[in-house]
Amino acid sequence: MGVLKNMSLLLKNTMSKPLPPGSFGLPIIGETLSFLNDPDFVEKRQEKYGLIFKTHILGRPTVGMVGPEANRFILSSHMHHFSWRDEMPAHWRELWGESLSFQEEEKNKRNRRLLKPAFHGKALEGYLETMECITQSYLTKWEAMGTFTWFGEMKQLTFEIASVLLLGSEPGAMKTRLSQWYSELSAGDLTIPLGLPWTPYGRALQARDRLLAHIEGVVRDRQQHPTKDALSILVQTRDEEGNSLSMEEIKPNALQILFAGHETTTSMLTSLVMSLAQHPTVWKQAQNEQDTLATEGPLNLEQLRRMPYLEQVLKEVERLYPPVAVEFRGVIESFKFNGYQVPKGWQVFFSIKATHKDRRCYSDIEQFDPDRFSPERAEHKKYDFSLVGFGGGPRSCLGQAFAQMEMKIVVAHLLRNYTWELLPHQNLTMKHIPILHPRSGLKVQFRKRSGGDKQGS
Ligand code: HEM
Repeated sequence: MGVLKNMSLLLKNTMSKPLPPGSFGLPIIGETLSFLNDPDFVEKRQEKYGLIFKTHILGRPTVGMVGPEANRFILSSHMHHFSWRDEMPAHWRELWGESLSFQEEEKNKRNRRLLKPAFHGKALEGYLETMECITQSYLTKWEAMGTFTWFGEMKQLTFEIASVLLLGSEPGAMKTRLSQWYSELSAGDLTIPLGLPWTPYGRALQARDRLLAHIEGVVRDRQQHPTKDALSILVQTRDEEGNSLSMEEIKPNALQILFAGHETTTSMLTSLVMSLAQHPTVWKQAQNEQDTLATEGPLNLEQLRRMPYLEQVLKEVERLYPPVAVEFRGVIESFKFNGYQVPKGWQVFFSIKATHKDRRCYSDIEQFDPDRFSPERAEHKKYDFSLVGFGGGPRSCLGQAFAQMEMKIVVAHLLRNYTWELLPHQNLTMKHIPILHPRSGLKVQFRKRSGGDKQGS
């Protein structure tokens, strides 16, 4: 405690502006436990100290920043003050390799340029059939099951889509092995980084090697026999100067994209189907939109572009249930914000969750109200950087369009052909670790819609 206080005093004396208000908490652990266990950690400090406050978490003096101005500052206007690499524990880099998230500005820019074509435009068009086909197989399975816990099922669905489209596995086949290796690898994030063969961290490293060997095999195959999946597109992509991603660049990026790409989508899809069940009027309106489109024939890209109400619902789920609540950066150049100074060497985070409940941006903040995103109200357009579930600025989510297309396909099929009820006596309060989800996992009764449930009947 004394050391932290002295450090704070020393910094106060040597800087022209004061440090932000707040508390460093206990010696060594600071406020880490509250940060990990209290879902309202940020909101409580925001209420007490304002839009910028200091704390001490995950071993470092830290500043929390809230609101659209803070987001713009960190994500765009002053992004060169911050480091991505610096804020990650060193063993994550060993586990996940030199992927996009760990790269600083120039390298990230080059890699993003070469990765982007696999997640936009024409590539997405080529993914539709696979996404739809895998979705159909899960819908049939869920109908046969009748009652199940949706979070785990959604995770299997999004993992299968990601492993087929991003890792080149065949639908159904390899899935179990890839999923097992993936679980062992991600378990390594939260263990002691002791790489002996029998430790969880050692097993995580072995799983990483197996996944990387699998990706290398698929890349070599795609070099000879191109398909429509993401690895095939990555192999073929060239920038203006004719450069392409090397094998050593593709492998860690594919791994990170698998990680970034399915846990977050699982979380948002689960929150979405829960919210529909809790808000029958919203459900009905979304269903009517789908029933009208269904009269024009099967789902296709053109139809996916004409779902304005479902897009509003997706935005409202992003606002109220952002899978990523906060994002960290290391401070590599000290900066001033709102009359306070933040020294180099600290870390900062911006709060996605708290921004989405900023009363300056949104009305009736706790209310699930997709109409706030209607063209007439467009509450998210009052302030730039006020809807940031997918981040913002030059480092925003690379897979946003991929995730949105996947979610639209799953939900469009659900709305057109199925109905579900939340089972009673379950705990629907939200848990943040490993990713935002209802504590019960969302237990539902699921069945096919009868003719009588459909519009106009
Ligand atoms: C609902 C689903 C998703 C959500 C909510 C989400 C959210 C985010 C957020 C908030 C960031 C920015 C992090 C920051 O500023 O530090 C991010 C970055 C990223 N996302 Fe997503 N994501 C989703 C789906 C996906 C998918 C499907 C993919 C790939 C197919 C993907 C790939 C990435 C990558 C590669 C980055 C790092 C970009 C960079 O550092 O340049 N994400 N995502």
